[in-house]
Parts: sequence; C-alpha cells; structure tokens
Amino acid sequence: MAKVAVVFHSGYGHTLRLAQAVAEGAGADLVAVDADGNVPEAAWETLNAADAIIMGSPTYMGTVSWQFKKFADASSKQWFSQAWKDKVFAGFTNSATMNGDKHSTLHYLFTLAMQHSGIWVGTGLMPSNSKAAKRDDVNYVGSFAGAMAQSPSDSSADEMSAGDLETGRLFGKRVTEVAARLKA
Ligand SMILES: Cc1cc2nc3c(=O)[nH]c(=O)nc-3n(C[C@H](O)[C@H](O)[C@H](O)COP(=O)(O)O)c2cc1C
Repeated sequence: MAKVAVVFHSGYGHTLRLAQAVAEGAGADLVAVDADGNVPEAAWETLNAADAIIMGSPTYMGTVSWQFKKFADASSKQWFSQAWKDKVFAGFTNSATMNGDKHSTLHYLFTLAMQHSGIWVGTGLMPSNSKAAKRDDVNYVGSFAGAMAQSPSDSSADEMSAGDLETGRLFGKRVTEVAARLKA
C-alpha cells in the first residue's frame, strides 16, 4: 500500500473540503498549511516518508496562495538534497470562476513537482462536456492536469458541487493506485 500525503492551504474552507475529498479517495494523511504559511514540524516527516504528495491550493490572483508559496519555498530544504526525487506528485485547486486561471495554479504545482524531480499524475477522468452534462457530473470543470473545483464567490464551503468533490475523491484514488503500482 502506498503512503500518500495531501498538503494544502485553504483561506475560507472550500479548498479544505476538496482536500478532504481527495484525502478520502487517496487514503491519505492531511497536512494543512496554516494562515501564516507554516506546517507543523512533524508534517515534514509525513511528507518525507510519503510515496506520493498531492498538493492543493485555492487560486488567488491566478496562482497559489502566498501561504502555499511559503510552504513551497520551505520545501527548498528537501530540494537541495533532492530528497523527494521520484515521489509521485499531483495537484488540485478551487476557485470562484469557472475558468478563473486555475490552470496557472496547477501549472505552478506541476513546476514545483518537477523541481523536486517527481512524477506527475493527472486526473485520468474524462470531462463531462456533452449537451446532457450537468454541473454535478464528475469532472464537469474539465481538467486533466489535476483536479479542479469551482465555488461561486458568494457560496459557503457547505455548498460545494458534489460532482467536484467526487472528482476529488476519484482523483485521490487514482494517485494512490499509481503510486502503489510504481512501488511494486
Ligand atoms: C485574494 C483572492 C484572490 C482570488 N483570485 C481568484 C482568481 O484569480 N480566480 C478565481 O476564479 N477566483 C479567485 N478568488 C476566489 C477564490 O479562489 C475562491 O473564493 C475560493 O473558493 C477560495 O478558496 P478557499 O475557501 O479554500 O480559500 C480569489 C479570492 C481571494 C481571496
């Protein structure tokens, strides 16, 4: 069984809910980046020991939150020794607008994973994009690069799309399965 960690930041609880769904699907430990951009010291051990690290951030001004970027910069300690080389990586994000430049956030997470010499895994989920498609279908937001969720700007985390959360669960499951295959 692969060991998987989900490390994420959430300012207002939406990305937290998505992170919980991803972690549920992945059977992963959750590591929260706090409002000051820090993780507990023990979390670094969790991340160092993981076979796969799934990273999540809300999209703020077209990229990750500054708190997540602080975490990313702190991971330069691992980068120096390439301690995370050949781990599986994946990413997810949530934002208010259907597009909202979420892909820029995933692209940043991908670049971070590549700096750590990791192996990137996408959603592997076909988009729901036919005339019959419904907002709560799996992968309605339509991303292969990583899981995306969209939460209207005036909505609470409780109101998140069930389809986006299911997308997160299936995405988490896939990352764990890929990590287990690479470990075997
Ligand atoms: C500072 C800031 C910048 C934001 N920038 C974007 C953006 O670039 N694109 C977008 O679609 N939504 C943007 N939003 C909306 C958030 O992505 C959205 O409210 C999201 O659900 C917040 O997730 P959270 O509850 O996990 O913090 C922004 C929100 C804030 C507070």
